[in-house]
Amino acid sequence: MGGKGGVGKTTVSSGIAHALAARGRRVLVASTDPAHSLGHLWRVSVGDSPVLLAQPQGGELHGVELDPQATLERHLAAVRATMDRMLPERMHKAAREHLDLAAQAPGSHESAMLERIASVTELTGTEFDTVVFDTAPTGHTLRLLSLPERLTGWTERLLANRDKSERYQAAMSSLVTGRHRDEPESELRQMLHRRRQRFAAMHTDITDGSAGFVAVTVAERLPLAEHAELVAELDVLGIDLAGVVVNRRAPSESGALLKARSALEEAALADQPPAAPGTPLVSLPLMAEDLTGAEQIARIGSMLTG
Ligand SMILES: Nc1ncnc2c1ncn2[C@@H]1O[C@H](COP(=O)(O)OP(=O)(O)OP(=O)(O)O)[C@@H](O)[C@H]1O
Ligand SMILES: [Mg+2]
Repeated sequence: MGGKGGVGKTTVSSGIAHALAARGRRVLVASTDPAHSLGHLWRVSVGDSPVLLAQPQGGELHGVELDPQATLERHLAAVRATMDRMLPERMHKAAREHLDLAAQAPGSHESAMLERIASVTELTGTEFDTVVFDTAPTGHTLRLLSLPERLTGWTERLLANRDKSERYQAAMSSLVTGRHRDEPESELRQMLHRRRQRFAAMHTDITDGSAGFVAVTVAERLPLAEHAELVAELDVLGIDLAGVVVNRRAPSESGALLKARSALEEAALADQPPAAPGTPLVSLPLMAEDLTGAEQIARIGSMLTG
């Protein structure tokens, strides 16, 4: 699920996830927005490991708020351990400083988030039947979606360089010591290989129709314009637009103010249709209630899918 900030992505994600669970599936709703609100929506504490949120009609719904910082730290700890084995003691301090700097570099959180998304995606088929991702507002998510392809190429080049430097180092160390000593290098290579495979699998998943993108919008001109850009960008990325949810539709029968809003929305939708003919489109009315808690989420789920 994706869309502009505040249009209802988190609410709709949990609603749809609940509806899928109510059909007997094991579903995970995963928030990739660093500003998590899944826990607030459900009024329970949700963290970096899945927690059980509901068990409707024989199904199961779990939730997780993916934490790139925790992923980054796990990753850094592994790299640090490998480096400590590879490098002589006197270089440890400098290497650690270098690694700390790398952790602050632009993009490191995004790639850690992507790694975590990939690890959650891998749970489909084993622990879960379906994973619903509740994403961050448009720009952030689009960048993230285009990353698997870019990172695969990048890792490819890194591996090619590694191949060369590995051969060089093996040759050097066997010259110096008279024996072959390339074990820690291989460990790094394996790490890079695993990453490449992960990102390549993810790129396949998001482009071969195993995954679909549901775009959430509201029926106002500015959000609809951003929505149109999102739909165009998904097309460029080869990602299937599985459906569109137009949220918070104003009722036309509840007073002059809402009647006027409703007319504006009709006009905006006529000018900027949010979905091509044939793409499933669902509207959700503006609701008077506070929408937090399991009961309201279940209700939204049935409104969206019933
Ligand atoms: N149909 C609706 N009627 C009334 N209020 C709604 C409706 N859908 C969502 N809301 C409310 O709108 C607010 C924003 O919803 P939500 O957090 O789901 O949006 P979001 O797109 O995930 O936001 P963000 O971009 O900040 O992640 C919440 O207070 C939610 O309860
Ligand atoms: Mg949200």
